[in-house]
Parts: sequence; C-alpha cells; structure tokens
Amino acid sequence: MIAIEKQRQQIQIYCDNSKTLKQRNLLGQYSTPVKLANDICNYTKKLFSADNSIRFLDPAAGTGVFFSSLQNTFSIEKIKLAEGYEIDEHYGKPARDIWKNTFVNYKLEDFTQSAVPENNSEKFNLLICNPPYIRHHHIPSIHKTYLQTKILDSTGIKLSGLSGMYCYFMMLAHSWMQPDCVAVWLVPSEFMDVNYGQAIREYLLNEVTLLRIHRFTPNDIQFDDALVSSAVVWLKNKKPPENNKVVFTYGGTINAPIHKKEISAAILLKEKKWTRFPLLPERITSDKAKLSDFFTIKRGIATGHNKYFILSLDEILKRDLPLSQFKPILPNPRNLNQNVINANSDGIPQVENQLFVLNCELPFDELETSYPNLYQYLLKGIEDGVSKRYLCEKRKLWYAQENRIESPFYCTYIGRSDDEKNKPFRFVLNYSKAIVSNSYLILYPKKLLADKIIDNPELCTFIFDELNNITRDDMLDESRVYGGGMYKIEPKELGRVCLSNFLTFL
Ligand SMILES: C[S@@+](CC[C@H](N)C(=O)[O-])C[C@H]1O[C@@H](n2cnc3c(N)ncnc32)[C@H](O)[C@@H]1O
Repeated sequence: MIAIEKQRQQIQIYCDNSKTLKQRNLLGQYSTPVKLANDICNYTKKLFSADNSIRFLDPAAGTGVFFSSLQNTFSIEKIKLAEGYEIDEHYGKPARDIWKNTFVNYKLEDFTQSAVPENNSEKFNLLICNPPYIRHHHIPSIHKTYLQTKILDSTGIKLSGLSGMYCYFMMLAHSWMQPDCVAVWLVPSEFMDVNYGQAIREYLLNEVTLLRIHRFTPNDIQFDDALVSSAVVWLKNKKPPENNKVVFTYGGTINAPIHKKEISAAILLKEKKWTRFPLLPERITSDKAKLSDFFTIKRGIATGHNKYFILSLDEILKRDLPLSQFKPILPNPRNLNQNVINANSDGIPQVENQLFVLNCELPFDELETSYPNLYQYLLKGIEDGVSKRYLCEKRKLWYAQENRIESPFYCTYIGRSDDEKNKPFRFVLNYSKAIVSNSYLILYPKKLLADKIIDNPELCTFIFDELNNITRDDMLDESRVYGGGMYKIEPKELGRVCLSNFLTFL
C-alpha cells in the first residue's frame, strides 16, 4: 500500500505539472493534500458504525487520494469495495493502472452520466468526495439543463443555473447512497452564503441529517492553487430528527478546531448566511436603519481597459489630449493614502496621483476635426484591439463610459481583515468631482438625505463619521469571504449593513 501511495503521489505531481492551471481550472482539478484527506477519514471513522463493512464511493476520484486514506484509517478487512469515477484520462489512466488488482474499482467515466445502481445493496454506505470546482460559466448550458433535469427527477430539487459543478455532484450522489450512508463533501464554502446555495442548504436541512460543517480560515488555503475558502460537510442519509443540532467549527484542523458551536436547524432555516457560525451568534432581526434606507448603492465604472482609458495629467498633456473629454477618477484604493478627498477650484481631487478617465460622448467622425489628437489616440486603441474588448464592444460608443456622476461617499469593494481591529472596507468622503472605478462602490444619498445635505453641506462629515462607526462585525456579516483572507461586498450587501445612530438628524 505504501508503494501504491508513493506511486500515486508521483502521478499526481506529474499530471498536475503537465497541465496548465487554466486547463485544470476547466475540469476543477485541485487535489486534496494527503494530510487533509487523512484528517477527514479519521474524523469520519468516528461517525461510522464499527460493525459495518464499507462500500465506499468517490465520484471524482482523481488519482485516488481518498482510497489511500481510507485504507490508512479503516482495516482492510472492513473495506468491501471502493469505487471511484474520473472523467479525465490524463489522471484516470495512470491512476486506474496503480489501483488495478486492489480493493478499488476505478472507473474512467463521467459520474454525471453514470447509471445509478438500482438496488440498495449495490449502493454505498460511505462517500467522501472533493468534487470538481467548475464555475457555472464553464458548464455548457445544454449540460446544465441535462443535470438540472436529472436532479429534479431524482430528488425534486431545483438547482439554480448559477450553481458550480460541486452542487450538481452533491445532488446527483444523493441517489447513490444507502440509507444511513455517511457522506463527506469537501467543497467551496460559497454555498453557505450565496443565493444559488439556497437549494443545497434546504437539502441539508430537510432531506438528510446534517452533522457538521468545518471551515478553514480563509488565509489557510487548503489548495495552494485554488483561491477558494473550503468547507467540509458531514451528513447522514437519514431524514433529520426534530431539533437537529449541527456542529459548526472554524479554524485550526478538523480534529482540533479553534472555534466550535452547535446551531439548531431551526436557526439555520432562518439564516441565509451560514458562514456567520460559529463565530457570530444567531442574528437578531434588527430594527436599526440600514444603509439602503439612505443610499442608492452602485458599483464604480468598469472601463474595460484601465491602462488605456485612465491617464495621468502628465500623459494627457504630453499627448495633447483635450482635458474636457476626461473626468477625474480616484486612484485604486491601494494607491489612495487618504480617506477625505479635498478638491481644487475645478473639482480636481487633491491627491498624490491625479488621474482622469476618458469619457467622450462625441461621435467618432466628428473627433477627426474637433479633437484630432484624441482621434489618433482612438485609432491607436482600435489598432491595439481595445475597441474589441468585451465591455468596450458592448457599449454604444466603445470609448464612452457608463454614466456615473460623482458622490460624496464611496466605499472600497474588496479588502482584508486579518485581525479584529482591522475593518476590511473603508469609506471615502469625497469633496471633488472624481468618480471611481469598480474597485469602489458608490453611495448616492437618496432624496431625503440629499435634500438635507444641500441645506447643510456640513452634514457630510457627520455622515462620514457614522459610516466609520459601523462595526467590523456588521460589515463582515454582510460581506463574502474569499481564499487568502479577502473580503468582497456587493452593492446589495452593503445596502443591508446596519447603522447605529443615523436617524437622529433626519
Ligand atoms: C477537485 S478534483 C479531486 C480529485 C481527488 N479526489 C482529490 O481529492 O485529490 C476533482 C476531480 O474530478 C474530476 N472530474 C471532473 N468532472 C468529472 C465528472 N463529470 N465525472 C468524474 N470526474 C470528474 C476531475 O478531473 C478531477 O480529477
């Protein structure tokens, strides 16, 4: 067995290295580190009745790390069968060779198309899987429809078209489980928070007994080549008991997590963002005001090619381009060293790195005579393929930006929060005419607030203070976390963030 495992690891390295990251991305090929596979099996053994012999299934086997861990953990006499599916010959052929003549039945087959065993006795009582992390836009729509129909027929569950491939695997595998089968899924934690995950969350609460979810800290990336924050989900194929309690753990290792809390299914049913557990308590429905009560929140502009469209004042002068066809724009958050932006008399921001975005709405032909240098610059853009870029091509005039006006309030869209003192996002108070790119969100005051600001512009600093008084936890509650400790907040999510004292002056 040690010899097989050695060979397996060599094959894994060889196969990974002979593909590009992009190729592996398309089939969601991120292997499970051996230590993690062993940790998963060790913990799973505690949930599995010692009397049972094992019929094991891995629907996305790769080179078969879980076959090795299975044998490290359970005695070989207990393992009646271990069956694995793999779609890609690149991994599948050498893996099938090493597992030949062992307890493993390795099938080079597309699991999503494989026929479900008809009898319970042919099904499985232990399933461990790290399914492919294929994002929805890489799944052809004809295949999505096939998978959705198959799942609807077999489970009655309707998966959203935005679901990643791992969701289809979880739902398809349901019919492969014997009653009481223990299943373990190593999946991106995204399903715990996002809308497409709702169907999975309902399945976990209503169709099976959800036992535990462990999340790794986002900066402890389990797969060094996949930027996702991962979760391990344990369930039993059995309708849930009344008052089921699910163990949520976070950080550390599976066997020694740093945080642990039992959460009742009744609480989980009401909560749309499960990643708040175990760190945060049950959400108290708040009658506090939310940002969306006062602001319309939009993204900053997506130019389609910042290097081409956003220029410094020096560059504009050097090329003799007309400043009237540009708008000031703030530098990206990491190059913006201040949170209050004052302006000169033209509304140009007083920042170290003054930038301008091309924002011309004049027809191309007209420019040849009215702004010949700009015309030449656009010709160069066409020659360099800028006009054919996805976003540019979709616009009426490829060089005219979305219509966004400046606002006194911006919020950064992405950030880190490595410790409790650090807020992941920062607010910017803007007195200039600068707009922002999509590395910021724009908070436009709604009418009631806008009128108050017109009457009393001083209010802006007060509002800015209140925005800065929003707690880190209130922000994290609504944001989403990515691998490597990055947080992002979308316009709707920022709109749901609560304020403390905001109403007093209205
Ligand atoms: C995340 S990797 C996990 C591999 C291995 N089980 C591990 O944990 O290291 C997912 C594997 O599923 C395979 N795969 C992708 N689509 C599949 C399909 N439709 N049927 C079977 N395997 C598939 C990929 O080629 C890849 O090897």
